[in-house]
Amino acid sequence: MSKAVLDVKDLCKTYVVEGYSNNVLQNVNFRMEEGEFVSIMGPSGSGKSTLLYTVSGMDEMTSGSVIFDGEDISKLDRKHMAKCRLTRMGFVFQQMYMMKKLNIMDNIILPGYQAKLKPRAEVNSDAEELMRRLGIIETAERYSTEVSGGQLQRACLCRALINNPKMVYADEPTGALNQKASMEVMNELVKANRAGTSVLMVTHSEKVASCSERVIYLIDGNIEGELKLGKMKSEDETAVRERQLRNWLQDRGW
Ligand SMILES: Nc1ncnc2c1ncn2[C@@H]1O[C@H](COP(=O)(O)OP(=O)(O)O)[C@@H](O)[C@H]1O
Ligand SMILES: [Mg+2]
Repeated sequence: MSKAVLDVKDLCKTYVVEGYSNNVLQNVNFRMEEGEFVSIMGPSGSGKSTLLYTVSGMDEMTSGSVIFDGEDISKLDRKHMAKCRLTRMGFVFQQMYMMKKLNIMDNIILPGYQAKLKPRAEVNSDAEELMRRLGIIETAERYSTEVSGGQLQRACLCRALINNPKMVYADEPTGALNQKASMEVMNELVKANRAGTSVLMVTHSEKVASCSERVIYLIDGNIEGELKLGKMKSEDETAVRERQLRNWLQDRGW
């Protein structure tokens, strides 16, 4: 068996609000091989974001274990978890959080400096190279309010990739974008995945999910089904893959 980048065992997450317990995740088990690109789909409120946040250490799990890149993250204290997130994980969200007072380039550079994995000059040149690759070099000195949504999300992806993470966690990365910008962001995620970064992404969109190689369907905090699509080799496959996914969902009444 190849090496797992993520191994989730009996993961439970309960939120207690005003004395009432909400068992959002109930014994979730799944594994991701190194280099895999997995999507999580499911109805709104089914626990997709909660799953993404608990397996990435952004939120604490109630019970179970999560092995990320060979390390049991349930055993890491706050400081080591923060370091792990900064140096080995990248994050992309629907709301494209960027520091308003820093220009786009500086936003991308910042986690590179914070991680201290390489000299600042190298972080600078890596940021520039990433921005070129993702087609947003002309936005380097602009601020987040001065670029399009698609450019901003590609900048967020550059920021997520600056420390060459093992895994990118993406929560509805195209949720605020039009179709053209969505597919541009997806193309870049697919390219990053081809270059070796594993990707775990939540999405509502069949078109977006069809770019991934495996789709997990969550209902009420349980994995109810899984579709293997295989790696996307070229953009020409998009329509066929989307149809395959749509049929699979329809057959199950999802
Ligand atoms: N911080 C929180 N505190 C309490 N309940 C929460 C919190 N975050 C999510 N929930 C609840 O957990 C359930 C799943 O939410 P979420 O993971 O955001 O679903 P999804 O991303 O699939 O729409 C919902 O019932 C939601 O109200
Ligand atoms: Mg969500």
